[in-house]
Amino acid sequence: MAKTIQAIRGMNDCAPTESPLWQWVEDKVRNVLQSYGYSEVRMPIVESTPLFARAIGEVTDVVSKEMYTFWDNDEQLTLRPEGTAGCVRAAIEHGWIYNNEQRLWYMGPMFRHERPQKGRYRQFHQAGVEVFGISNPEIDAELILLTARLWKELGIDQHVSLQLNSIGSLEARKNYRSALVEFLQQHIDLLSDEEKERLEKNPLRILDSKNQALQEVLNGAPKLLDYLDEESRTHFAQLCTLLDEMGIAYEVNPKLVRGLDYYNKTVFEWVTSALGAQGTVCGGGRYDGLVEQLGGHATTGVGFAMGLERLVLLVQEVNQHIDLPRAVDIYVVHTGEGTTLPAFQLAEKLRTDLPHLRIMTHCSGGNFKKQFKRADKVGAKFALVIGESEAQNQQVVVKDLLGGEQQVLAQADVVDFLKTAF
Ligand code: HAM
Repeated sequence: MAKTIQAIRGMNDCAPTESPLWQWVEDKVRNVLQSYGYSEVRMPIVESTPLFARAIGEVTDVVSKEMYTFWDNDEQLTLRPEGTAGCVRAAIEHGWIYNNEQRLWYMGPMFRHERPQKGRYRQFHQAGVEVFGISNPEIDAELILLTARLWKELGIDQHVSLQLNSIGSLEARKNYRSALVEFLQQHIDLLSDEEKERLEKNPLRILDSKNQALQEVLNGAPKLLDYLDEESRTHFAQLCTLLDEMGIAYEVNPKLVRGLDYYNKTVFEWVTSALGAQGTVCGGGRYDGLVEQLGGHATTGVGFAMGLERLVLLVQEVNQHIDLPRAVDIYVVHTGEGTTLPAFQLAEKLRTDLPHLRIMTHCSGGNFKKQFKRADKVGAKFALVIGESEAQNQQVVVKDLLGGEQQVLAQADVVDFLKTAF
């Protein structure tokens, strides 16, 4: 036998047994987004590399270590590691946000060259939202309400919690950065080589270090919230009030800074303890300077993205009450002279008259026993059986595969029977 070829590490197939749950989760996401009036956009998976370097930031892990980049003749291209940069690029390019508010969403694969582990993959899927042209905190609150509603729909709301912070303006962060660096220099011996490098390039990222001893010291570090500019402070206070009034619980986490450079003011993450190390199921925040930074007219932005693999894992872990649709409701069985055509005709008629049902016609020959075995294997509720005499008399045997009973019906009466049975 020829040598087989395996999938790339960290890039997963979705098996036919897994896709019903994925579709269920994706449908819930779509329905909630649409119920808030958001519109879907679809962007290419490949973009020019400088887009990500400029939007996400050269010194972030994503840009400096994790991008899949290649040359296409003399142009450097990258498989998108996230959706915000491409969405902003498209919005500027097509004038979607010129003097206009937009509430947009997208869903699709993203690529990061990370070390794969449970909940962290090299190809993963995000559903994301980007809202343009609304600067007041009501929209930040709406995004959080929308996600909270989705967690309820997915049956995971008891297993996720909201972390919230404001990282203020660029100026406020600069002031804070100096204070933090000064503080960390007094504890330099606790920093790993990588963290020492971060101290120079991106010291705020040290705040979410996994180093326990350092974390304890960081509890006494200057807090970003104390360095906020007046406008960011008011914006954050208004957001917190609105969330309180809407009954959304959250924890203000002064160490939450997020790993991408475009944020300002609000940042948030929904986290769970049910998935081990990769516990962030959704992250986002405001990025008021990004559109201008990428060459558009100054327009505010805010958004988030959720990791669909992590949501699917969490649903599997904690929600045992999902009623997934069966792949096949009705299996059409036929054997003998002159039975293929009536079987096909009956199945097509049923698909026209009962479009919500899933109907599979047996196509691989064999006797009734073999065909019933297949009907059981695909999980059908009913088999419709056409043998030679049924074909001659325009009849069909309807067999309940779960209960075992069967009856003979005129083909013309099958639709009415199935209407009551499903
Ligand atoms: P992010 O925090 O980098 O933000 O990713 C958002 C979510 O994608 C994470 O919370 C996680 O659930 C999922 N995710 C990220 N990397 C992986 C991975 N390697 N494997 C599995 N899941 C992963 C963004 O991407 C921003 N664009 C979000 C945003 C939109 N901010 C504003 N607008």
